[in-house]
Amino acid sequence: MDLKTTGIIGQSTSLLEVFKVLAKVAPTDSTVLVTGESGTGKELLVRALHSNSLRHQAPFVPINCGAIPKELLESELFGHEKGAFTHAIRSRPGRFEMADGGTIFLDEIGEMDLPLQVKILRVLQEKEIERVGGTCTKKVDVRIVAATNRDLEEEVRAGRFREDLFYRLNVIPMHLPSLRDRGGDILVLAEYFLEKFCERKGRVKLCLAEDTRKVLAAYRWPGNVRELENFMERLSILCDEDLVQPSDLPAKILDDVGDIVTLPEPPEPSQAAAAVQQGFVWPRIEHLREHGLGLKEFLDLAEEKLLLEALDMADGVKNQAAEILGVKRTTLIEKLKKKKLD
Ligand SMILES: Nc1ncnc2c1ncn2[C@@H]1O[C@H](COP(=O)(O)OP(=O)(O)OP(=O)(O)O)[C@@H](O)[C@H]1O
Ligand SMILES: [Mg+2]
Repeated sequence: MDLKTTGIIGQSTSLLEVFKVLAKVAPTDSTVLVTGESGTGKELLVRALHSNSLRHQAPFVPINCGAIPKELLESELFGHEKGAFTHAIRSRPGRFEMADGGTIFLDEIGEMDLPLQVKILRVLQEKEIERVGGTCTKKVDVRIVAATNRDLEEEVRAGRFREDLFYRLNVIPMHLPSLRDRGGDILVLAEYFLEKFCERKGRVKLCLAEDTRKVLAAYRWPGNVRELENFMERLSILCDEDLVQPSDLPAKILDDVGDIVTLPEPPEPSQAAAAVQQGFVWPRIEHLREHGLGLKEFLDLAEEKLLLEALDMADGVKNQAAEILGVKRTTLIEKLKKKKLD
């Protein structure tokens, strides 16, 4: 299956690990619990889970359990019958019913109070819901995906989260690494957001000076990708010159990183990792076996094919073919001679 990671930018090993799990888990109906600090992209990931699932044409219904008053959350989730409470002037389906056939996203599940947790547990076990004030149960076919920036195990220990629900939700745990643990992704994302916001504002894309890159790479990003995104938008509005200097950065960031002179060189994004993300298919031993090829024969063949393609693209002009391949002209000529392709 071709994995759609639309909108999730990054090529760090820690993010590619997340994509690997995403590819395996998305097509299943398993319950997933996404954890990660605020702003690490939990919602983006959950949307990708849905759009890569067999349910992608059915509804995706998010609900933020932390943003809805506790006394309304139950009827929001399960619906209610007319007369169930003072303002229930007509019957209404809840989010679980709306999500039938699709995915429900219980965001900030750690904020849910204990009595409601019992009811969620019941849906997970029985696959049926009961509207508030209702008398009958209704079957629902819903995949449950939950997210939290709390440490749920800690919440369980403190008696604020039911242990049985935690285990039911945590069938497949997916953890989004903090931005500071994604190495070169900080700069990849910074460039991506700068381009997006500058284009939106109709100005040429701002460039990051070398020292600025150092500072951005060294900063701890407590607000993760969201903080970086907001910050790049601010630069696209406030920065007068086309080159962003460290002095254009807010004091908060500069204070956090300390003396610029002592900062290490910013990391380079990994090219190989980028190729993997863009759907490059690496040959595997089974492919070599299928074609009865040893390593050397395979590499020779692959090289020959690429040499010929480059020559073809360059209409036989060796200088240009060498440039396409990223090798010196002399190297190209040597290789062609060896393979008797000249
Ligand atoms: N890898 C990424 N590539 C591009 N944009 C990203 C990435 N990760 C996060 N974002 C953007 O950062 C912002 C925050 O992401 P999101 O809302 O998914 O985070 P969250 O983990 O759900 O945060 P919170 O816990 O605060 O709800 C969004 O605007 C999102 O589009
Ligand atoms: Mg969120």
